[in-house]
This record gives sequence, structure tokens and C-alpha cells, in this order.
Amino acid sequence: MMLRDVSSCNTYNYGDALYWDTRYVQEAGSFDWYQCYSALRPYVRHCVSTSSRVLMVGCGNAVMSEDMVKDGYEEIVNVDISTVAIDMMKRKYEDVPQMKYLQMDVRDMSFFPDESFDAVIDKGTLDSLMCGTNAPMCAAQMLGEVSRLLKNGGVYMLVTRGPKFLLVTSKLYFETSNNCCFLLCVDNIW
Ligand SMILES: C[S@@+](CC[C@H](N)C(=O)[O-])C[C@H]1O[C@@H](n2cnc3c(N)ncnc32)[C@H](O)[C@@H]1O
Repeated sequence: MMLRDVSSCNTYNYGDALYWDTRYVQEAGSFDWYQCYSALRPYVRHCVSTSSRVLMVGCGNAVMSEDMVKDGYEEIVNVDISTVAIDMMKRKYEDVPQMKYLQMDVRDMSFFPDESFDAVIDKGTLDSLMCGTNAPMCAAQMLGEVSRLLKNGGVYMLVTRGPKFLLVTSKLYFETSNNCCFLLCVDNIW
């Protein structure tokens, strides 16, 4: 597993596209935040069927989607605000038809019609927005879009190390719509 030097990290930058572009230029390999698919697999397989159309929000350069495809998932659309990450991942997976990569801001995913996905997986992206400026507004915009894009009964799987209020907020948000929200709280980040 790759280890990070976090001594110079300023989490206030995590909501900033330029920060992520710079970081992905410097770290051209792959990295999975929090946990990799093998650890999350029991939860993912329980909540998301392999025939689901899945949206991976803030995919970064993680191998999570690749591992899911190897495990039988048929369609995963990956979005990220970082052009650098998306270009890199498009090249890497150009021969894998189960995965698509699109540069997009999760606060405005109007490119997709309503109810486009059976499941949305978020590993660390809502957490990133919560570190940026205008955090409550950005989080509300993102959750609104996630809810709009989910089919009736769709699943939002949030892998987070956010504080309790974030978990409660997300859960309440989805309890008031026709979607389900599954929260996995991780405590080891690196
Ligand atoms: C903590 S990293 C997690 C990356 C990946 N999901 C993983 O598990 O390794 C957060 C990701 O969210 C992306 N991101 C941050 N703000 C975003 C936004 N507004 N729209 C889309 N992606 C965003 C970043 O570019 C970064 O790739």
C-alpha cells in the first residue's frame, strides 16, 4: 500500500479543483482513499447488485471501479472535477467498456437526466466538499444532485470519515426522498 506524507496537507483545499489537479499531476499512480474494494466488498455486494448502473462520484485515481468490474459489475460511470484525473483514467481504461470517465462537478450533474442510476457510491467526496469553502451549501447541492439521479429505491453508499452531524444530515436527507442511504464510517484514513 502507498503511504502519504500528510505533513503539508491543508484539508481546506479539498473542495478546490486546482488543488486536486495539482495533486494528480504529482501523484500519477493510483490511490484508494480510506479503504480499498476488498475491504468494502461485503457491504457493496449486499447493497448494490452487479447489474446496477452505478455512478462513482469523485472517483479520483482509485482502483475501486476497476476492482468492482473484475468482480462482475457491468456499468460504472465515474465522474470527478479533476481534468487531470479523468484524462489519466480515460487513457488507462480505454479498453474497458464497463467503465466510463467524465469530468464533472458533483454539484451540477445536469448532464444526466433524473433517475439515471441504481446506485451512487461516494468514497471521500462529500468529505472533501465538507472541507472546502461554503461547505454546507456545496454538500446540499451535491446531495440534491445525488438524490435526483437515483432511481426510486436507489442506493447512495457514502464511505466517510466525517463527523456525526454529516452522517445524520445525509441520512435524514435520503429518508425524506425515495432513496436509501447506506453509511460506512471509516476511521483509518491512510
Ligand atoms: C478524497 S478523494 C477520493 C477519491 C476516490 N473516491 C477514492 O476513494 O480514492 C476526493 C475526490 O473528490 C474529487 N472532488 C472534489 N470536489 C469535487 C467536486 N465538486 N466534483 C467532483 N469531484 C470532486 C477530487 O478531485 C478527488 O478525486
